[in-house]
Amino acid sequence: MSLDLKKTGVGEVFSGCFIVLQKEKKTAKNGRLFGDLLLGCKSGDIPAKIWDLSDDLFNSFDKESVVEITGKLDEFMGRPQIIVNSLKTLNADDIDYEDFLPSSKYSFSDLKDRLLSIIDSVEDVFLKRLLVSIFNDSDIPGSADMSTGVLERFLKAPAAKNFHHAYLGGLAEHSLGVAKLASVIAGNYPGVVNRSLLVTGALLHDIGKIQEFSFLRTIDYSTEGRLIGHHVLGYEMIKQAAEKLGNNEFSEDNTLTDLQRETVLQLLHLILSHHGSYEHQSPKKPKTIEALLLHLCDDADAKINAFQLIEEASEKGSEWSPYNRLLERFIYLKKLDEITD
Ligand SMILES: [Fe+2]
Ligand SMILES: [Fe+2]
Repeated sequence: MSLDLKKTGVGEVFSGCFIVLQKEKKTAKNGRLFGDLLLGCKSGDIPAKIWDLSDDLFNSFDKESVVEITGKLDEFMGRPQIIVNSLKTLNADDIDYEDFLPSSKYSFSDLKDRLLSIIDSVEDVFLKRLLVSIFNDSDIPGSADMSTGVLERFLKAPAAKNFHHAYLGGLAEHSLGVAKLASVIAGNYPGVVNRSLLVTGALLHDIGKIQEFSFLRTIDYSTEGRLIGHHVLGYEMIKQAAEKLGNNEFSEDNTLTDLQRETVLQLLHLILSHHGSYEHQSPKKPKTIEALLLHLCDDADAKINAFQLIEEASEKGSEWSPYNRLLERFIYLKKLDEITD
């Protein structure tokens, strides 16, 4: 059983299971060896120290081992850390690694139902068919751990390693959040915004993340993710899916129509420009209204989730969050609805 750190108080002695995310042997000022670890569990990551470390103990576990720990919750520089008293490595065969990864508050079946319903709402027949064929695809090019289909990986993948939606189910939760915002905004500008294109772009904008991340045991970048990134990985998936459609039912002479080709071109532009600027790794800046709106909805949904996660992780009752390096600010935590006159 993974430990819920939020329910453990500072100074409390506890026992629980964690996955080892990082391990390093260091020497303290008194010359003694200590283990400097980063441990993971459902409620997040936490640093841990093993004082007076023996080589035997240090060598008894590896990165990604699941260990049962007895220890005390301590605090260092305002951050919680664990002081380990005893550590035992568990047999990998008995472990369900999902128990040690943070996950969305929405169930996979809830996310799946919401995805199917928003796909169903796409009016453009070609874009709807493209969405269905991408999510039904069982064949993902790439590394060996991509053994499941696109839909299953999309529902499980994180949207990031840090910052926003950095948990299992995060990619689907984020993509659905962006699609919902996109749909509302499209409704505000009838005749100006193509809702089918914008919603399709919203659902697919980060689809490359199913290859960019590995999330079997821990959440990390895959080799494809580090070398290519989700813009280009997503671009490739969508382009291939569109070409396959062109070779099937949509055309008698095995090619897409002019309108279908133009639709794919504009959709691919949405994928390549959704981060908005070159300094945010977008190969292109948004050059259509739908691309601009996708970027704004993506940014809004990611930042709202980042604020939410900071609020949830902050100490109850405090006015300010700790300084957040990624957002480069403190977050003010006082909620108007919680103040009573
Ligand atoms: Fe992205
Ligand atoms: Fe995104």
